Amino acid sequence: MKTDPTFLGIVRRVVGARIFIELSPQIPSASPIIGGRLHRLGQIGSFVRIPIGYLNLYGIVSMVGASELDVLESAPPLPPTGQRWIEVQLVGESYSGDPFQRGISIFPTIDDEVHVVTEEDTATIYPPQGPSHIIVGTHAASQSLPARVDLNKIVTRHLCIVGATGAGKSNAVANLLTAVNPATYPNARFLVIDPHGEYASAFQGYSRVYRIRDPQHPLLIPYWALSFDELSWFLVERKTTSESLQDVILREHIFQAKRARADSLSAGAVSPDEITVDSPIPFDIRELWYALDRAERVTYLDMPRSQEALVSEGDATTLISATFTPPGAGSAAPYKPAIQTPMSSYVSKILGRLKDRRFDFLLNPTQYDGHNKDLHHLLQDWIGHTHPITVFDLAGVPFEVIDLVVSTLTRILFEGMFWGRNLPGIGRQRPIVLVYEEAHSYLPRSDVQSVTGYARRAVQRVLKEGRKYGVGAILVTQRPAEIDETLLSQCGTFFALRLSNSDDRARIRSTLPEGLTALVDLLPALRTGEAVVSGEAIQIPTRVRFPLVEPRPQSTDPDVIAAWATNPEASTPYDQAVTAWRTQSTS
Ligand SMILES: Nc1ncnc2c1ncn2[C@@H]1O[C@H](COP(=O)(O)OP(=O)(O)OP(=O)(O)O)[C@@H](O)[C@H]1O
Ligand SMILES: [Mg+2]
Repeated sequence: MKTDPTFLGIVRRVVGARIFIELSPQIPSASPIIGGRLHRLGQIGSFVRIPIGYLNLYGIVSMVGASELDVLESAPPLPPTGQRWIEVQLVGESYSGDPFQRGISIFPTIDDEVHVVTEEDTATIYPPQGPSHIIVGTHAASQSLPARVDLNKIVTRHLCIVGATGAGKSNAVANLLTAVNPATYPNARFLVIDPHGEYASAFQGYSRVYRIRDPQHPLLIPYWALSFDELSWFLVERKTTSESLQDVILREHIFQAKRARADSLSAGAVSPDEITVDSPIPFDIRELWYALDRAERVTYLDMPRSQEALVSEGDATTLISATFTPPGAGSAAPYKPAIQTPMSSYVSKILGRLKDRRFDFLLNPTQYDGHNKDLHHLLQDWIGHTHPITVFDLAGVPFEVIDLVVSTLTRILFEGMFWGRNLPGIGRQRPIVLVYEEAHSYLPRSDVQSVTGYARRAVQRVLKEGRKYGVGAILVTQRPAEIDETLLSQCGTFFALRLSNSDDRARIRSTLPEGLTALVDLLPALRTGEAVVSGEAIQIPTRVRFPLVEPRPQSTDPDVIAAWATNPEASTPYDQAVTAWRTQSTS
């Protein structure tokens, strides 16, 4: 009824699920008080209700205007100018008393009444939901109404959190992960790839943090778990497109070294015939270097070359070369080998990597030699501890290998779940979620040449197939436009925080359902910590406000004014900063 305080206007035009509503001239104010609560009429993203008999249709306001409607394409002009109107996108309906359903069975028609959605109506649209729903914040329009998302859908259909720097993404991640209460979900497992080392502080008491050179929980990525492509790219800058003679020799050496270890592995022996050069089987990279180096240096005392002109054996473990008497001049002894392999540049590159302490976490994974510790110990360490969250703090990982490290981490976890899928407590029986912070820096579009794309391929696999093996993913990024399209298109749910860049908004627009793309226009105006949540984990796209979590991720903005207002330190420890840089560790 038109005297109802919630009455807003009447339907003037219906174009599919888009309807145009002429606001009633009797509405005295744009902010009426209904049921003791202030309502703002015609807020983009807010709801309206259209009662048709016992049925209530619900729509989201997508455009607001005054005067003529004929700005809208392919529509005959509407009569008098000076009207106030709103455009609404219908999203769902409910019969009185029944739960809300997406989709429309009956469309409204001219002169149907339209009403403001009150708090009680909103409760119908978002009824208290099942056990798989968790509360992540409140509805931006109503602080008293909790916003819930379906955790099942987040894990199985993946989530993407986007927003400009400082929009509140890290806080949203911390909030979501802590909303999964360990008392209710003792078996939940999140593994956070944290390039800036922000999260250790947010999950105190909830998480185990792996860090490079950490005495208790060092981050170790055994080089032998890398594929041949990855390992040879890292060791000798091999480009995957070409295979030189040196590459063939290197491949054969690694293959044979892995074969030799296959039947004495702590996780269980495998037949040497079943492995390939890419199998994650330990081998000794120092021995590999030593053997290649020795073959480069060897000389012989006699002509059938049976007696080496050895001076000292050297030592593989401490990277000391074997020495030989130098070859004689002309045809005099000692003699060089009959066939010389051109490996010297590879030998010196491998030695360079082995001596670079920054790569110890890859090339010197201490106990992880297959005998003392094997890959299953690594999985047990990463997933099997008592906390629900594992943080991989990659702050000390040299920039050039982030791609490789993310790829290998992802692959170890994914393959573990994939191949253990029929075993108790693995895969679908205990799903895990991988969180990729700052994803644009290592998961760029495929046309970005500066990154080798190992991580992109590994993460693509998780997003495409993870659902079947209980591996979910959460991508977090400032620049959705720079992320690989395949990855973005595999994410079922989006948390879009404040975002101004038009390319980035265009990418988000393409993920929203037809008709609701106007919500993208909200993105530049969102407050910090506010997001448009859309997709499979929520019934209807909703503006949600996340709470500020305590303790926080270490990402708080610096307090510029307070810092600049204090007196300078008497002596600033730049020396310590430089040493930390050189040793790649902040104490
Ligand atoms: N829900 C919120 N309510 C109030 N303040 C918030 C909220 N979320 C984040 N903030 C504040 O905004 C600042 C930045 O938050 P956050 O580190 O989460 O941003 P970010 O999007 O992760 O940025 P970056 O892309 O640079 O990592 C912090 O100082 C934090 O205190
Ligand atoms: Mg952040």
